[in-house]
Amino acid sequence: MKHEIANMTVPILKDQYGRMKRKLRISVTDRCNFKCIYCMPEHPEWMKKQDLLSFEALLIFCQYMVKQGIENIRITGGEPLMRQGVVHFIRDLQALRALGLKRISMTTNAHYLVKYAEQLKQAGLDDLNISLDSLDAEQFKSLTKKELAPVLNGIDAAKKSGLPFKINCVLMKGQNDDQILPMVKWAKHHNIQLRFIEFMPLDGDQHWTDQAVVSEAEILEQLKPHYDIQLIQQQHEPARQYQLDGQYRIGIISTITHSFCGECDRIRLTAQGELYNCLFAQQGLNIKPYLLNILREQKIKQISDFNELDMQVKPYIWRKAQGYHAIQHQQARKISMHMLGG
Ligand code: GTP
Ligand code: 5AD
Ligand code: SF4
Repeated sequence: MKHEIANMTVPILKDQYGRMKRKLRISVTDRCNFKCIYCMPEHPEWMKKQDLLSFEALLIFCQYMVKQGIENIRITGGEPLMRQGVVHFIRDLQALRALGLKRISMTTNAHYLVKYAEQLKQAGLDDLNISLDSLDAEQFKSLTKKELAPVLNGIDAAKKSGLPFKINCVLMKGQNDDQILPMVKWAKHHNIQLRFIEFMPLDGDQHWTDQAVVSEAEILEQLKPHYDIQLIQQQHEPARQYQLDGQYRIGIISTITHSFCGECDRIRLTAQGELYNCLFAQQGLNIKPYLLNILREQKIKQISDFNELDMQVKPYIWRKAQGYHAIQHQQARKISMHMLGG
């Protein structure tokens, strides 16, 4: 097996279970102006700015990944709009469309969208996913430690800019499970795509218990008296789609009760340059030194030799475990959602 991995002949990104990788999620910062209880630790230790991968190095990596078959790049955080230069980076990524890149997306808390939505659109971003866990201002504040109004204004700004977007709503028992119906009504009324998300054990302070999860079945149970609900076939995406009254769709991302790991086509990179082959992987692969070597060589000899990087990345992706249910009971790890970007 070792021999087979060392001499990787596959020109594409594939894991040992035959799952091809088409989506790359890049966290550009672990910092965030929010403190969502299902994500941030109470006392975060931020990565040092000088330890972050430069956008120059990130671009090299994206170029390599797109050549290997990555079609979608999603920029995440922390809050990605807190990293200076991110709009410029999105503009630079446009050059990779000629190599096969099809979509450039971002997941954001929307707080800064009033300022950035138009710039992101102009830079060539394709779409946004926006976190919104409550429409009740007081509840929103207790969940995020921030105000709701700038987020709603940010959503308006996204609409005005013409950027398509979806809303992510993480549900936690006793915190915001009373928001299921109001969120659906609001989203349906404004014709906004909404996805509910089951709380996953990736919160910074590891307070997760299965008691706190609002399951897909419970969400549907709350909606049943109000809507006629039909399940729609799941594609290569984490959300299972449901049609309500034959006209409006919601998605549910139910990693805990219906993991979609069998179809997983994602890999992710932290802001410091650690590649993770799964959201729940115990260990990442530090690719920063290889990227810095490539940058150095480019500056001296004007060539890009991706061999060294390739020899590390492909075997690491190959070793991707089966998924959430195979990994979940292993020991706790230090890296949490705000470093991995979801
Ligand atoms: P699109 O499908 O392109 O819209 O992106 P997405 O839904 O994967 O991105 P987003 O950042 O909005 O994430 C929504 C939720 O899905 C978050 O809770 C993520 O943590 C979760 N998610 C994203 N990728 C994975 C994954 O590979 N595995 C699991 N279990 N959850 C994921
Ligand atoms: N469980 C489920 N989803 C989470 N997110 C952050 N932390 C968790 C968690 N513990 C979601 C955010 C954001 C996306 C990147 O991940 O709501 O929309
Ligand atoms: Fe910030 Fe997003 Fe985490 Fe909330 S989920 S604390 S908005 S990174």
